[in-house]
Amino acid sequence: MKTQSQHVSRRSFLAATGATLTGSLLVNPFSLQAIPITKPAKKVRLAMVGTGSRGSSMWGTDVQKNYSEHIEFVGLCDINPGRLEYVKKRMGVTCPTYTDFDKMMKEAKPDTLIVTTVDATHHEFIIKGLEMGANVLTEKPMTTDETKCQAILDAEKRSGKKVTVTFNYRYSPHRAKMYELLRQGAIGKLTSVDFHWYLDTSHGADYFRRWHRLVEKSGSLWVHKASHHFDLLNWWIDSDPTEVYASASLDHYGKNNSFRHTNCRPCPHKDKCKYYWDITKNESYVNLYVNNEKHDGYLRDGCVWKEDINIYDKMAATIKYANGVQVSYSLTTYSPYEGYRIAFNGTEGRLEAWIQESNPTEKRDYDELMLTKNFGEREYIKVSHGTSGHGGGDKLLKDRIFIPGTSDPLRQSAGTRDGALAILIGIAARKSTQTGQIVKIGDLTTIKPQAQKA
Ligand SMILES: NC(=O)c1ccc[n+]([C@@H]2O[C@H](COP(=O)([O-])OP(=O)(O)OC[C@H]3O[C@@H](n4cnc5c(N)ncnc54)[C@H](O)[C@@H]3O)[C@@H](O)[C@H]2O)c1
Repeated sequence: MKTQSQHVSRRSFLAATGATLTGSLLVNPFSLQAIPITKPAKKVRLAMVGTGSRGSSMWGTDVQKNYSEHIEFVGLCDINPGRLEYVKKRMGVTCPTYTDFDKMMKEAKPDTLIVTTVDATHHEFIIKGLEMGANVLTEKPMTTDETKCQAILDAEKRSGKKVTVTFNYRYSPHRAKMYELLRQGAIGKLTSVDFHWYLDTSHGADYFRRWHRLVEKSGSLWVHKASHHFDLLNWWIDSDPTEVYASASLDHYGKNNSFRHTNCRPCPHKDKCKYYWDITKNESYVNLYVNNEKHDGYLRDGCVWKEDINIYDKMAATIKYANGVQVSYSLTTYSPYEGYRIAFNGTEGRLEAWIQESNPTEKRDYDELMLTKNFGEREYIKVSHGTSGHGGGDKLLKDRIFIPGTSDPLRQSAGTRDGALAILIGIAARKSTQTGQIVKIGDLTTIKPQAQKA
């Protein structure tokens, strides 16, 4: 077997230098506008609903700072007026703010609405946004159950407007590299995938502190978190899921402890709780949440042992695809470090990786893929990290959306069909966990799974 230092193939060199794109350059169908070369382009009028953590940073401050040549904010909306005013100031914009969504849509008349609210409310704003004449950019998950999902699909069709689902995970360079290798047939015909994701005791625990801990708000981590992973699978496998069998339980957080309190700040158990977290050390969180609790009572540093927690913390699923590929997936939420193991098994070899997103003992500026040919040699492929959030994906996603005419050679842009198929696996897994039955994706909405992704 060759070692990493002995073997630097052309492929690994290209991957490490980032010059990896192959195939024809497709123009991104979701780019917000096409600009004529001769005339300055009209700025896209943007409005946003949900000025929390994700809205204020990724889609707020950052978009205003880096893309204002192409966009202008014309309205911001949130049910928490204090957070809204703080975020407006932080973004450095002068547009009006609203606690009434319909009023914002009528007065601000945006071309594009960004939806960054609590997951279970996305459908309400996506549908109204489309009906009131805007294109919509929505954070994942598109929504949390199959009825809301169908309503979004129908509304988009009726309106003639377009919804983009912002699947940033597709944009990390090492994941794009996996997509390229699979499309190039590096392991022959893909037959199965082993995919196991580990959230650590910091990030993983955080889901149990916040609104995410309630199925009625997040759809459970099957939908809120795993839909990111299911979207990656659908994209990598290039086919639609057909059926899901799953099991899950809540073994660690929630009721599984002898003490608890409402939230960390006033907690009498601080000294003995390993999950004690001092939100006051984070200035941004204090400004966003602590200073605005008086408006909505939302406690961002909620107790991870609260008895109302009704999501699972350990999940496993078997997923079948229309092209015959089968997947073994799991998600664990209390690991000592964070990352994932993946292996694509094909008729001519195996492509695998152990990606560590938080690792207390080792820091690297690249991710490594391992490609082993049946009866052949092993090749180590280094892919340099991007510098923006989520493995370099966040910036690439925004460039694709906001810079007109940006190409999409790896088909990373996602619309409602992709948004739906990602959550439908999670919804099917949730149902299967409850009933012990296999759930067919084609029974959930009007989307009929196809062997080759549409
Ligand atoms: N793609 C990613 O990697 C990623 C990362 C983080 C969050 N997200 C997504 O972003 C969204 C927001 O997450 P967050 O972490 O910012 O949560 P958050 O709690 O910080 O923000 C949610 C905001 O929505 C507001 N809101 C809730 N209901 C509303 C309503 N009915 N009308 C108007 N405003 C309402 C809240 O007041 C809050 O300000 C979620 O859908 C989440 O899944 C995606």
